[in-house]
Amino acid sequence: MRWLEHGDREGFGHVRSRVYRGGGAVGIDENLLREDSDGLVIVHPEGGIVGAATVLDMTYSRHGHPHRNAGIAAVGVLPEWRGRGAGTALMNGLLDRLREREFEIATLFPFRDRWYARFGFVTHGVRYEIKAESSRLPMAPSDLELRELGRGNWHEIAPVLEAWAHRYDGINRRTPDQWWRVLGGDTPLAVYGAGDPLEAYAVVRLVGDFWVPQEIKEFLWTSERGYRALLGLFRGLAMNKSHVVWPEPADSPYLSEHFDRPVEVKLIGPAMYRLVNEVDHEHARVATRAWLGDPARCGNIEQF
Ligand SMILES: CC(C)(COP(=O)(O)OP(=O)(O)OC[C@H]1O[C@@H](n2cnc3c(N)ncnc32)[C@H](O)[C@@H]1OP(=O)(O)O)[C@@H](O)C(=O)NCCC(=O)NCCS
Repeated sequence: MRWLEHGDREGFGHVRSRVYRGGGAVGIDENLLREDSDGLVIVHPEGGIVGAATVLDMTYSRHGHPHRNAGIAAVGVLPEWRGRGAGTALMNGLLDRLREREFEIATLFPFRDRWYARFGFVTHGVRYEIKAESSRLPMAPSDLELRELGRGNWHEIAPVLEAWAHRYDGINRRTPDQWWRVLGGDTPLAVYGAGDPLEAYAVVRLVGDFWVPQEIKEFLWTSERGYRALLGLFRGLAMNKSHVVWPEPADSPYLSEHFDRPVEVKLIGPAMYRLVNEVDHEHARVATRAWLGDPARCGNIEQF
């Protein structure tokens, strides 16, 4: 188990292709690891690279303070090598490597919580997905002006995220490159904001079809009038759509102020966390729960 080395690209790319792309090719010039990321590989003496994972350098906000957080992504073992201990060795080796690099906490969005619980990870945080019929969205007037922002304006949005990170735990202070990725990467998303300076913003993948749901990918606010201004935007956006679907934290203003049946509310797959320093997995679970504290404070908005 080791960090990716020069010459591992083919094996690393092969795992990515077989586990995450349904066998689809990895381009010769494709950047598999952006500047915040590093790769790990598990090597078998006969099989070569049989598994891999990606580690993203991030932060986790706790009571407003950033802690060094390893975002764990693309954990995978080649299908023909599964069930023989490679995945276990990968996870244990990964935690050792994270300790060496002095990460404080690790985060992942699991395929199956129970598998990661074996390695000391705990499920934590509350984020709701609200799905409301567009015609039932509240008329919620606000005196703030709405505007569309180009994604080059991420520095205008960043203070809203910063304020959010003082209200909720689990937030990553994004680097410019991470903003680029969150705002759509190669296929940019639309960003709408309210107020100057901004008091709320929403990140949206606009859909062209009629009578389908319109999803809002990210929605943050610093004031009640900012929140209301964006709800007004959602209503306009979804004029010819069936529903609007958007995320809110545990103390959702929609649920307390604007709830109007019929509406569907569900818990969006919470993330899993683990304090890196604890070696024993059982102890790690107990210590991590104590460190994380109140799940309702944790918004875990990052999907990487
Ligand atoms: C998950 C994965 C990495 C595990 O790799 P692996 O080499 O098969 O793992 P191991 O052989 O070390 O461990 C398998 C063990 O996990 C158990 N296990 C497998 N899937 C499980 C699940 N969904 N829930 C709980 N336990 C599970 C097996 O029963 C086995 O238990 P045992 O050690 O008591 O026999 C591999 O199956 C994989 O690549 N899956 C597809 C990609 C994926 O879903 N990645 C995670 C994305 S977040």
